[in-house]
Amino acid sequence: MLDFNYYVRTDVRFGKGQIKSLKELVAKYNRQSLGQLGEIKEVKTPNVLLVYGGGSIKKNGIYNDALEALSGCKICELNGIEPNPKIEKIREGAKLCKENDIDIVVAIGGGSVIDTSKVVAAGAYYDGDPWDMVLDSNKIGKVLPVIAILTIAATGSECNKNAVVSNMETNEKLGTSSKEFIPRAAICDPTYLFSLPAIQTAAGTADIMSHTFEQYFRKDTGAYLTQSFCESILKTCIKYCPVALQEPDNYEARANLMWASTTALNSLMSCGTGGAWTCHPIEHELSAYYDITHGVGLAIVTPRWMRYILNKDTVLKFAQYGHNVWNIRGELDSIDGLSKGELSIIANEAINRTEMFFKACGIPMTLTEIGIDDSKIDLMAEDTIKYNDLSNAFVPLTKEDISKILRMCL
Ligand code: NZQ
Ligand code: ZN
Repeated sequence: MLDFNYYVRTDVRFGKGQIKSLKELVAKYNRQSLGQLGEIKEVKTPNVLLVYGGGSIKKNGIYNDALEALSGCKICELNGIEPNPKIEKIREGAKLCKENDIDIVVAIGGGSVIDTSKVVAAGAYYDGDPWDMVLDSNKIGKVLPVIAILTIAATGSECNKNAVVSNMETNEKLGTSSKEFIPRAAICDPTYLFSLPAIQTAAGTADIMSHTFEQYFRKDTGAYLTQSFCESILKTCIKYCPVALQEPDNYEARANLMWASTTALNSLMSCGTGGAWTCHPIEHELSAYYDITHGVGLAIVTPRWMRYILNKDTVLKFAQYGHNVWNIRGELDSIDGLSKGELSIIANEAINRTEMFFKACGIPMTLTEIGIDDSKIDLMAEDTIKYNDLSNAFVPLTKEDISKILRMCL
């Protein structure tokens, strides 16, 4: 097991009705109570920047719940955050923070809203263009406290240090990160997921699974516990996504998916392992050029990537995935001692089942279906390598490899 640092600071309030704790959390974690303004004798009512997306929270009542909990605070709003959040909104939000003496940012939504809020919160203290902090995370200094109210199970942004931002002018979608981005608190109410459109439930699950795959398909370092956690998350997604699709208000299914999303990407799943991610860098290029739903892009790329990298060196890991997650050859206690041929059958079956699972969840499974042709494949492959070092991945990939994988997705 490799050495690791595991840093957690988010105060998670999980369960139905947890919005009632918002008032307490805002009082506890705003920049005055945290002492970010230096010694202050008398704490004034905090100024809140409320950040949200295109309006789903107004239809399902979460907006009203939040306003009620925040009564007494001065509230400014930054709304209309789009999926694959754009830098323009972040510039707008940073300006609002400065002009309104904001003490805390409350994000209500999914990864797009929470990621926006993180960079806005840093922008409150940054004099230049916030895009600088996306290009270079060393430019991130002080960050206003952020509270996340989660409405979709997908990214894990509610408890992690990442933010992913798009600049459509330059066709760049880039991640940046800082420990200071980690939300101070997260309200995770599974009933908030009941109103999700089926495709968002499915795409969110594909994202959770992809985060897990990125950390599971790694060189063996003897991190048995971490790898077993990964398998549990994958099994949870496979068990509960179909239930949530059939019965959108099934609390048990939503609750398990919600907690799976948080745990898949709060750094717990990489404790003791290491190496670069692969499918995410590729998908980020698809989104940068075509603004597609992140989880859909991942579902399309993942099984093709798996097939492409399956070889004599990786077959054991894929067979382990097939046996432990999909219960292929479940009659065996262990796959130890199986021949390469037998392992290969399990591995291929596991990859096929992964693809069929995404399809059964209603995700379009080719680039052609979502309107992407081969015209920019080489460009996207080149950019993947330009922005990411994949030499340290489970299987290192070149630009040519990525072009081939993307062509398999057409
Ligand atoms: O905008 P509204 O109207 O709220 O609708 C949203 C949006 O259209 C809708 N939605 C969310 N909750 C809902 C709901 N509709 C009905 N009921 C609800 N309860 O869902 C749509 C998608 O929202 P979005 O925030 O974009 O989803 P997601 O959480 O999947 O976030 C995706 C973004 O996060 C980035 C992705 O690249 C993408 O930009 N990522 C962030 C990561 C991180 N911070 O660690 C890591 C990920 O790998 C990922 O890259
Ligand atoms: Zn993701």
